[in-house]
Amino acid sequence: MFKAYVFDAYGTLFDVHSAVSRHFDKVGENPARVSEIWRNKQLEYTWVRTTMNRYKDFWQLTAEALDFALAATPGSNPDCKQVLLDAYMTLDCYSEVPSTLRQLRGKGIKTAILSNGSPQMLSSAVQHAGLAELLDDQFSIDDIGIFKADPATYKMVTDKYEIKPGAVAFQSSNRWDIAGATAFGFQCHWINRNNQPDEYMDLAPKCVLSDLRGLLD
Ligand code: LAC
Repeated sequence: MFKAYVFDAYGTLFDVHSAVSRHFDKVGENPARVSEIWRNKQLEYTWVRTTMNRYKDFWQLTAEALDFALAATPGSNPDCKQVLLDAYMTLDCYSEVPSTLRQLRGKGIKTAILSNGSPQMLSSAVQHAGLAELLDDQFSIDDIGIFKADPATYKMVTDKYEIKPGAVAFQSSNRWDIAGATAFGFQCHWINRNNQPDEYMDLAPKCVLSDLRGLLD
């Protein structure tokens, strides 16, 4: 039914909180809060910079967001910055990711990443998680210098594959990304790993799943 299964990277394939989890004892008094602020600021920077037309790549924004998260969380250890950034280059993937990609490819379906991540970040995370052989493409918005959820980012996929948006199954754990991809015309599966409440009601996904295994049903 679909010509390609396209996946968001961070939060969908890779656990963004695994960097802090790996170094829990080095981060200071409130590691979970640092990790949450880090992720939220990283995303805020992408949206604000796209609105301002002042692009900086996702790696730079990830580092700036970590600076903010550490400064904003009392009792944090500023010396943990480098180990956390190193860990971000080799985040863990969720446990069901390799087998799900393998089974989709076994059915002859193309699989790809479409991410805000810079090409270096993506290839490092993909290699570390052993996913390189399971993906046809890694689309990075760095090629166009515009972050999701701008329609131009989703168009990278339909341009390269020369297919209609409706032929793409798009998976993301980020509800705002699902809204953007749905607006573009992708058929979306929202991977609601943390049982978040729904939002963007006018841009509903085709389906809500708790993890990627539901794609195989
Ligand atoms: C990405 C972020 C948005 O991978 O999770 O594009």
